[in-house]
Amino acid sequence: MNTARTIVVGITGGIAAYKAVNIVRAFVLNGDSVHVVATPAALRFIGKPTLEAISRHPVYSELYEGVDEVRHVAIGQSADLIVVAPATANTIAKLAAGLADDLLGNTILASTAPLVIAPAMHTEMWNNPATVANIATLRSRGITIVGPGYGRLTGQDVGAGRMEEPDTIVAAAEAALARSQSHDGVEPSGEPTQDLLNRRILISAGGTREPLDPVRFIGNRSSGKQGVALAEAARARGALVTLVACNLEVAPPAGVEVVSASSTAELRDALRAAADTADVIIMAAAVADYRPQNVQPGKIKKESTGETFTLELVKNPDILAELSATNRDGQVIVGFAAETEADRDRLLNLGRDKIARKGCDYLVLNTVGWSDGFATDSNTVLLLDRLGDIVGEASGSKMSVAHRILDVVV
Ligand code: CTP
Repeated sequence: MNTARTIVVGITGGIAAYKAVNIVRAFVLNGDSVHVVATPAALRFIGKPTLEAISRHPVYSELYEGVDEVRHVAIGQSADLIVVAPATANTIAKLAAGLADDLLGNTILASTAPLVIAPAMHTEMWNNPATVANIATLRSRGITIVGPGYGRLTGQDVGAGRMEEPDTIVAAAEAALARSQSHDGVEPSGEPTQDLLNRRILISAGGTREPLDPVRFIGNRSSGKQGVALAEAARARGALVTLVACNLEVAPPAGVEVVSASSTAELRDALRAAADTADVIIMAAAVADYRPQNVQPGKIKKESTGETFTLELVKNPDILAELSATNRDGQVIVGFAAETEADRDRLLNLGRDKIARKGCDYLVLNTVGWSDGFATDSNTVLLLDRLGDIVGEASGSKMSVAHRILDVVV
C-alpha cells in the first residue's frame, strides 16, 4: 500500500478506453491518488461518471475549465507518474511534436514525472512510418512504451495494435516509476538503488592487444574507463560483478571480481568461463578484429625485415556474436559500437546494421575520434534495441552514462 503517490491516467479516444477503468482501479486499490484526464474523444467511448466513481476524483477534460486553479499545469506538476492508456496514433503524434492543444497535452508538457504510454490502434496505423518515427522519438526521450499487443482489433481484423492488458500496463508503470526514482542509481536517502541485487553481471573493459613478438603488440586506444564505470555502477546497485579487464589504464573498482586478459583469445576464454552463470553480459571492451598470423618467439629484428615490413593478419572470432548466439533464456547481452561517424542518421544506420549482425539485445552506440570517446571522463551514447529503436540516450560523466545503460538493462 502506497498512499504518497499522485498518478495521472490520461485516456484518449480509442475503443480500448473502457479498459482504462481497470488501470485506474488498480492504482486506486493500491492506495494511490488517481486523477483522470480524458480527451473529449475519450469521453465518447467511456462515461465520466464511471471514471469519477472508480477514481474517486473529478475527471477533467476541458482546457478552459478550472483556469483559476491554473489546472492545465497544476495537474502535471502534481503527478508522480503519468500513464496514457490507450494512446491513439493522433495523441502519440502530438506528444512527439510537443503539442499542447488539449488538457492532456498541457498536463504532460508541464510534468517532469515519468511517462508511460500504451498505444492502441489498427495495425496499419501502428506500422505507418509516421507512427514508427513518433514512437522512436518518444522512446529516445526515455518515455516507456508498453505494447501494443497482437490480437483481435475492433473490427474483423487481427494484428499488432491491440492495447496491452491493464495488468501489464500497471506493472510497466510501476517499473518506470522505480527506475525514475533511482536517480542515477541513488535513492533520495543517498543509498544506492539495489535493483540489480545479486544479479551476476559480466563486463569486459579496456582494449585487447595482439602480440607480434615478446615486446610488441597491435592495440587500440580504449582506456577501459566506461567499462570500469559500468562495473562500479552495477556493484553499487547490488550486482555480483565479474570484470574482465583488458589492459586497463584505470584501476578496477573495489568489490568486483577482476579477471585479467590481454589478447582477444584470452578475453574470449575468460568470458566463456563466466558466461553461463551471468544474467547480463556487457561487452564494453574494444576487441581487435585481427591478430598477427605468426607470433615471433624472439624480438623481430630490422635486419630480418628490411625497408618495408608486411604483417599477415588473421581474423579474430567475434566474441559478442558468439555469446549472443549461445545465450540462455533471459540473459541480457549488451554490445558497444564506437564509430567515427559524426552524422547522427548515418551513425544510427551503422548501429542498426551492427546490432543485427551481432545479435545482441542492446547496443551502446557512440562517436569516437582523435579526441572524443577514448580516455576521456565523459561520453555521449545512444542505446538501440534489437529492432534498432532508440531506447535511451545519455550524455555526461562515464558514471552517469553507466547508470543510464543499467537502467535500460534493468
Ligand atoms: N566485438 C567482439 N569481438 C570482436 C570484435 C568486436 O566481441 N572480434 C564486440 C565489441 O566488444 C563490441 C562490439 O563487438 O561490443 C562491436 O565492436 P566493433 O569493433 O564496433 O565492431 P566490429 O564487429 O569490429 O565492426 P567494425 O570494426 O567493422 O565496425
